[in-house]
Amino acid sequence: MAAASCPALLAACLALHLATARGDGCSGFGNLFTEIVENSAHGSLVARLPPPGDAGGGAGLQLCLVGTDAAWFYLDGRSLRLNVSAGRALDREELESPVLMVALTCAEDGSSPVEFRIIVQVLNENDNRPHFQGATVLTHNVSELAPVHSVVFSAQAEDADGDTLMYVIDTASPDARFFRIDLPNSGRVVLARALDFESRRHLEVVVTAVEMNTRERFNASARVRVNVLDGDDQYPQFLPCTPRAPHSPPVCTSPVYTANITEGQLQGGPLSFSPGAVYAEDGDRGLRAAITYSLLAGQESSRFHIDNVTGAITLLRAVESSRQTPEICLSVMASQVNDPSKYAVARALVRVLAPNRHPPRFPRARYRAFVPAAPRRAALLLTFGGQVLALHAHDPDFPEGLNPQVRYTLSHGANQSQQLFQVMPNGLLVAQADQLRPGQSYHLQVLARDEESGETSNTTVELEVLWPGQAAPRDPSEPPPGRGVPAGAVAGGAGALLLLGAVLLLALLALRARRRRRRQQRTADRAALAIEKHPNVSLRWFQPVSGTPQKVRGGGRRVTLL
Ligand SMILES: *[C@@H]1O[C@H](CO)[C@@H](O)[C@H](O)[C@H]1NC(C)=O
Ligand SMILES: *[C@@H]1O[C@H](CO)[C@@H](O)[C@H](O)[C@H]1NC(C)=O
Ligand SMILES: *[C@@H]1O[C@H](CO)[C@@H](O)[C@H](O)[C@H]1NC(C)=O
Ligand SMILES: *[C@@H]1O[C@H](CO)[C@@H](O)[C@H](O)[C@H]1NC(C)=O
Ligand SMILES: *[C@@H]1O[C@H](CO)[C@@H](O)[C@H](O)[C@H]1NC(C)=O
Ligand SMILES: *[C@@H]1O[C@H](CO)[C@@H](O)[C@H](O)[C@H]1NC(C)=O
Ligand SMILES: *[C@@H]1O[C@H](CO)[C@@H](O)[C@H](O)[C@H]1NC(C)=O
Repeated sequence: MAAASCPALLAACLALHLATARGDGCSGFGNLFTEIVENSAHGSLVARLPPPGDAGGGAGLQLCLVGTDAAWFYLDGRSLRLNVSAGRALDREELESPVLMVALTCAEDGSSPVEFRIIVQVLNENDNRPHFQGATVLTHNVSELAPVHSVVFSAQAEDADGDTLMYVIDTASPDARFFRIDLPNSGRVVLARALDFESRRHLEVVVTAVEMNTRERFNASARVRVNVLDGDDQYPQFLPCTPRAPHSPPVCTSPVYTANITEGQLQGGPLSFSPGAVYAEDGDRGLRAAITYSLLAGQESSRFHIDNVTGAITLLRAVESSRQTPEICLSVMASQVNDPSKYAVARALVRVLAPNRHPPRFPRARYRAFVPAAPRRAALLLTFGGQVLALHAHDPDFPEGLNPQVRYTLSHGANQSQQLFQVMPNGLLVAQADQLRPGQSYHLQVLARDEESGETSNTTVELEVLWPGQAAPRDPSEPPPGRGVPAGAVAGGAGALLLLGAVLLLALLALRARRRRRRQQRTADRAALAIEKHPNVSLRWFQPVSGTPQKVRGGGRRVTLL
């Protein structure tokens, strides 16, 4: 065997010393059509060449494989075999054409060669798995407003073997319940439930492509990350946002904004609100549509101006009287500029304060008080002459010095006990009489605080516990009765009786009776006032000094004091 010169490039030749009749050695060959499965091993038999035409003869034949595909084959005697050198498999998918063509030239000694065609079809084998194009993590953007049952994205895998693919959603993937595939061959993924940007901004699902028509049923998976895009489905929200309920969807209840103004004054610049400036934001955080502010028409809304862009509220005309207009309630509307039907309304409460030039003051730095020890739960503290002690801090900012914002408290101090004494909103002091011992003395410190300005004043009440039945002493600074000016004129300044001779005694008696009546009436009035202002104060705490049950009028309703 010797390699002879071959007429074409890429030719593999074989000299066969076959006994053939002269001139007929190549006549047994013809065009050949055959098949081979891809990935076949080196040396696999592709075709067996037919025996030469006329048997016998001794001349040699020279066979050559010619053509671009000739390198895939070699001749081994009368067999055409596959030539795959290491690292070069016969991969149908790699070939330009799945059909290999090679020419077989047959030359007999001395005669010109004859050419035959060998056509080899490479048969497919499922040697490729499907795969998704691009990265293994695919990203899709889907609007939260995408309707359920609509196609939100399409998953497309490829299979080099051309196998038919079917797509399924991996139900074990985190957000599989949001998606569905209706037509398994299409790869079109349909939305199975509504999206909500406000609660979920990213979803993840695994789509698998499976070969349908192969034995191996190879599959490939892709992780799909779905970015939920914000759609305009939220209304503006006033800040700070108070969630309607903890852990609920983010639904805000509007805050109530409050600000203070002073009567008769126009402060420059916008009002300063608490808990913060009037401000609203689009509930669609991903869109943040521009917001415009307005005041809804109301009784006093014309007094104010609101900046439609910033929400700053300015007072245009001062309020004349805080008594007539203690507060003004405004309704502020925030709406989207691009869609006025998306709006929110919040309340802004503007309190009108009285101008504060003076602090409240107790007229005296100390008061003397008495209370008889008695088997009663509660007794009012008395002062000289058995009158009910009523503390009153005077505030010259108000007519008659009566500042309705003044609150009285007992301060912890000295030896006073909170359980034993109590100060009523109207300045009356109440003691737990059954806890006191005759002869004891207490120093109580009473604090008056203007809740509007925060100013305080204090006074000391020196209390002496009397024996049961012991009368409170007279005021030493008051002249004793029966001398000089009639006592009645000093004590009450009411009607004056001119007394003469024997009438003096009768008048004195009448005066005493009147004083007692007035005392009772005052006690009753103040107790009634206390009940009216603080209905949660126990009625049992009010006991008139006389101890006799009586009826008093209290703010339109009758209450019985026991
Ligand atoms: C197979 O082909 C390679 C070139 O790809 C060649 O070098 C080798 O000689 C061939 N083998 C045979 C047995 O013809
Ligand atoms: C998704 O949206 C983002 C911006 O929100 C953009 O950068 C990205 O290119 C989008 N991706 C696709 C797949 O549309
Ligand atoms: C994908 O193939 C793997 C084995 O390669 C198999 O465990 C899995 O169940 C297949 N997945 C599907 C969806 O057919
Ligand atoms: C705000 O008010 C001005 C006029 O005061 C008007 O020109 C402007 O368009 C308003 N802006 C919005 C967002 O309503
Ligand atoms: C309370 O303190 C005053 C002095 O501050 C004292 O005179 C008085 O005895 C004390 N009273 C009691 C009940 O301790
Ligand atoms: C308004 O005044 C009240 C007291 O009257 C005070 O408690 C409150 O903090 C004031 N509010 C503002 C916003 O200044
Ligand atoms: C009571 O008022 C005086 C001044 O009048 C002041 O020095 C003192 O600190 C006040 N006491 C309290 C407890 O406020």
